[in-house]
Amino acid sequence: MTTAIALRGLTKKFGDFTAVDGVTFTVDTGEVLGFLGPNGSGKTTTMRMLLGLMQPTAGSASVLGYDAQRETELIRPLVGYMSQKFALYEDLTVRENLQFYAGVYGMPPAVRQPRVQAVLQTIGAINHANAIAGQLSGGWRQRLALGIALVHSPRLLFLDEPTSGVDPATRREFWDLIYALAEQGTTIFVSTHYLDEAEHCTRLGIMHAGRLLAIDTPGALKQTLVAGPAWEIVATPLLAALGALQAHPGVRRASLLGDRLHAVTLHGTCTAGSLQAILAAAGCPHAQVLPADPTLEDVFTELALSTPAAP
Ligand SMILES: Nc1ncnc2c1ncn2[C@@H]1O[C@H](COP(=O)(O)OP(=O)(O)O)[C@@H](O)[C@H]1O
Ligand SMILES: [Mg+2]
Repeated sequence: MTTAIALRGLTKKFGDFTAVDGVTFTVDTGEVLGFLGPNGSGKTTTMRMLLGLMQPTAGSASVLGYDAQRETELIRPLVGYMSQKFALYEDLTVRENLQFYAGVYGMPPAVRQPRVQAVLQTIGAINHANAIAGQLSGGWRQRLALGIALVHSPRLLFLDEPTSGVDPATRREFWDLIYALAEQGTTIFVSTHYLDEAEHCTRLGIMHAGRLLAIDTPGALKQTLVAGPAWEIVATPLLAALGALQAHPGVRRASLLGDRLHAVTLHGTCTAGSLQAILAAAGCPHAQVLPADPTLEDVFTELALSTPAAP
């Protein structure tokens, strides 16, 4: 396993304000590293320092073995970047956009044509090759932006909230593309604030107010950070059941999850039977209580509960 990215105390200040605060971690080759955090938590600033687009205030980083600050020109040809505010040439077709960027990357004309065709295939846009970029729907714009980030066959892709603002079905299709790229060996560093997407990353780094709060596989984060066992509860009336659970001291949190309830209880405080008894006493006599897996939302809630607010 080789290291694709290493951050060592990476820090960025804007005046007195610390946007990225001593962040240290590594990304292995072949990973799909999810970078999770609310708006303003420092995700884009971190990415821009890794890409050499912004100088760190302190700390350092290496990308594919090169220093992110001093060897940017060696890194640039090896990485792709889909920024949050990606730019397309609105008057050009999908194919022309890809051809233009192939030229920007200095690809010889003879290889441009076949490479553009391969990228059209990868992003599933063969039938949209002649569509005008300015007339594409949000999902297709996103695919084209990914295609542009891929045109020079990078070994490492930085995707900054690539699916923000597109519908759930389009998001799923986009993630299928991401996994296909990862399977072909591309390392992926992707920021998101969608927990359902984060679920499928090989590891997740969780940012909050410029700090890395945790980094691990989704499964390990749930095991180590969630306070106790989780339960799935089917009960009527649902809101009465929710209120009864939330009022119980052994229940760390309870919430609606689709047409049922999801609860996390503190270790050693509740059993399925004791939860059923609480629900029966609250007017829900036939409640079903089943052991469940903790969710990433549980992880987030725990981290939020245990993290002091930013100064
Ligand atoms: N060029 C800048 N000048 C001043 N503040 C900035 C600048 N860029 C980002 N910030 C601030 O740094 C914080 C982190 O921003 P950003 O990295 O864009 O977060 P995220 O991508 O997680 O939403 C935000 O509070 C943002 O307002
Ligand atoms: Mg951002």
